[in-house]
Amino acid sequence: MSNVYGYGLKNERPPFTFKSDDWEDLAKERMCANSLGYICGNAGTGETSRNNRSAFQKWSITPNRLVKTEGYPSIKSKVLGQDFATPIAVAPIGVQRIFHNDGEIAVAKAAACEKVPYIYSTAAATSIEDAATANGDGTRWYQLYWPSNEHNEITKSLLKRAQENGFSALVVTLDTYKLGWRPSDLDNGYNPFLHADTIGNALGFTDPVFRKKFEAKHGKTIEENMEVAAREWTSVIFPEFSHSWEDLQFLRENWNGPIILKGIQSVPDAKKAVKAGIDGIIVSNHGGRQQDGGTSSLDCLVKIQKAISSDIEILFDSGIRCGSDIAKALALGAKMVLIGRPYIYGLVLGGQVGVSHVLRSLLGDLIMNLHLAGIPSIGKEELNTDCLQYES
Ligand code: FNR
Repeated sequence: MSNVYGYGLKNERPPFTFKSDDWEDLAKERMCANSLGYICGNAGTGETSRNNRSAFQKWSITPNRLVKTEGYPSIKSKVLGQDFATPIAVAPIGVQRIFHNDGEIAVAKAAACEKVPYIYSTAAATSIEDAATANGDGTRWYQLYWPSNEHNEITKSLLKRAQENGFSALVVTLDTYKLGWRPSDLDNGYNPFLHADTIGNALGFTDPVFRKKFEAKHGKTIEENMEVAAREWTSVIFPEFSHSWEDLQFLRENWNGPIILKGIQSVPDAKKAVKAGIDGIIVSNHGGRQQDGGTSSLDCLVKIQKAISSDIEILFDSGIRCGSDIAKALALGAKMVLIGRPYIYGLVLGGQVGVSHVLRSLLGDLIMNLHLAGIPSIGKEELNTDCLQYES
């Protein structure tokens, strides 16, 4: 912690401001229209995304006074039986090379340096092998965009590669069997996955099963027919139709480790996840990029936590922008929160150093907030709804 706070005040200058509110605007100045539209774009009118943010303002942290403290609060967490130095993870975000040349490599390295779990996206612009090497000894999880059952051989190959490369948990995203109605991308005529220069296709284009199928079908290699390959890979990972709860059995049979469902927003679905023997859920609405007119993810967390609390590990994302947001989500029942867009702004502004700066700033902000609120640790006994007030 002294590192986190001290490096801004001592000789080591930060790569850009500590003001988390300014990161988005600063990054916007550096991006081309396509990348900007892709990162900032939301579904439809952006109502879900706005709800994600405004939900945090309805909760406020009530400080406790004269709490005898012996140092800074502990932010150690335990998720899926594993101990972590912090309660944050890097959310899976695709095509990171459209934001910075170093893309996933920079993020995987920064996550390892900051001891934060790194979640690699199926839509990555870097192969899973290269991302794993960059992440080194860090904890990494694999996020699956789940091909339809006719492509089960490809799914098996992706899962095998993830396990062989040290990805210890499987995160299955349920809300994106088709990309959302995103006016900014539509206006730009931009879909990163259809670009023949392989952006967003790294995992597929390096996959032996996809390659073999493609060559058998077209009599040509992917490199000889990039545009068609980009279209076909896109339709494999965004198959347009959802799986069913029964299909989860296939993943269980082919994944040796914890499975986490990302995109849960309702109590009935959370209960189905428990019934299906799933290890964890991420209460998320994809940052409001998939479905418009939706509830804030934080409101969903509150309901889900009350209904199922101890039956399954609950993680959270969508709308986290500063340390107090993290504290609120943890107090409302999340074991860990995923940082999304803010670290991409850091990537845009400073590559690996920029991502590290964002993660460290958020953690420093979190620790100082807890400290000044008289909350000695993020354990459930100390950080819970008693620490918050709600005003609708
Ligand atoms: C995403 N997200 C995402 N999720 C996922 O499971 N796989 C993916 O490939 C992506 N790609 C992606 C790209 C971009 C540009 C964004 C902004 C988001 C969703 C991500 O994991 C997370 O749920 C949201 O980013 C959380 O919302 P906020 O906090 O970023 O608003």
